[in-house]
Amino acid sequence: MTEAEKKIQQKNKKNKESLQGILWDLLRIQTKVVLTAGAAVFILFLILQSFLPHTPGAPSTFLYDITALASDRLIFAFLIVIIMVIFLITGWVYYYSYGLSLKRTLAHIIHQLKQFQRGSLNRKITVERNDELKKLADEVNELTDDLQQQIVSMRRLLNENAKLIEEAEKGAGLEERRKLARDLHDAVSQELFAVSMSLGALPKVLDKSPEKAKVLFKQTEKMVHHAQQELRALIMHLRPVTLEGKSLKQAMESLMKELLSKHPHLTFECDLKKVPPMEKGTEEQLFRVLQEGLSNALRHADPSKVQLHAFLRGERLLIVLEDDGRGFDTDNVQKEKTGNYGLSSMKERMVELGGHLTIVSYPGKGTKLEFRVPLTKHQ
Ligand SMILES: Nc1ncnc2c1ncn2[C@@H]1O[C@H](COP(=O)(O)OP(=O)(O)OP(=O)(O)O)[C@@H](O)[C@H]1O
Ligand SMILES: [Mg+2]
Repeated sequence: MTEAEKKIQQKNKKNKESLQGILWDLLRIQTKVVLTAGAAVFILFLILQSFLPHTPGAPSTFLYDITALASDRLIFAFLIVIIMVIFLITGWVYYYSYGLSLKRTLAHIIHQLKQFQRGSLNRKITVERNDELKKLADEVNELTDDLQQQIVSMRRLLNENAKLIEEAEKGAGLEERRKLARDLHDAVSQELFAVSMSLGALPKVLDKSPEKAKVLFKQTEKMVHHAQQELRALIMHLRPVTLEGKSLKQAMESLMKELLSKHPHLTFECDLKKVPPMEKGTEEQLFRVLQEGLSNALRHADPSKVQLHAFLRGERLLIVLEDDGRGFDTDNVQKEKTGNYGLSSMKERMVELGGHLTIVSYPGKGTKLEFRVPLTKHQ
């Protein structure tokens, strides 16, 4: 038997006991009333007998007859006892049947309340009486009606919520696709268009001035290189954003390794030894922000070195992502560019983690991103 079942059984036992209590209370009260009344009658007649002594020849009245009869105290006591017994038995029968009907009604109400507790709110308590118990049953019935209505509106809210979440997810997916399409168009497609134009013009320029052709060729090569970088960054965006069962440290190390193989001219430094195991949600959020930071460095900075380091600072984890590339003006970037979400979403994610992102960057002097995350006790 489970703990909950034991509790229910104990409760039922208690309820039964208290109901038995009502029945026995009624019988006990009835017994006390009869015994007290009998004793009072006996004492009253003793007093009457001493005040109204029967004198022979005196006119016979009911009171005189009674007192005469009561002159023999034994007989009188016997009579009182018989009357008391009759009262007791009739009282017991009456109170027992009354108590039983009371007990049944209360037991019915308790049983129905139990059913409500278990979720059968459709049932109604029916009481064949016209007293306070009926009022109690009516009140409980009204309460369950209200409860039912509340449950209906709560479920409606839940369903609406689920629909909203679904729509929001769909919207987020669409938004992501729109952004990718825009990036592919703005960055890669336009760059490739420029490349094809340059290549188309190259034979003529070569005929006219081989020196100019050389410059154009170099420029075209740069454009191809840039387009390639953009494509790689976009592909990184398309990577699954979950850690795929890895810890943050493992996932970041393998990502850096992958980047190293694709960008052999770049130096990558990665030291995440200090990253402790964290909750899955926290690790995934951090993975996303680091992915975006790396993607930005590769897309916009044209760096020769990218470093990723982790430090423990008291109860905080500090992750620093640094590149020695182009850098940018942090004050103006948000105002100048609309439709760029990377930096703002990184900041939002850090706030959600209870942490903070500091961006230090100056044009021509590289960029340093500092991610600070508070660690919870079990980490
Ligand atoms: N490491 C970096 N080096 C140089 N410039 C950067 C760097 N990180 C960000 N920037 C500049 O800040 C701008 C905003 O970056 P943000 O990540 O918000 O947008 P985005 O990368 O252009 O687009 P997306 O919304 O796809 O991330 C970039 O366009 C770029 O000019
Ligand atoms: Mg970005």
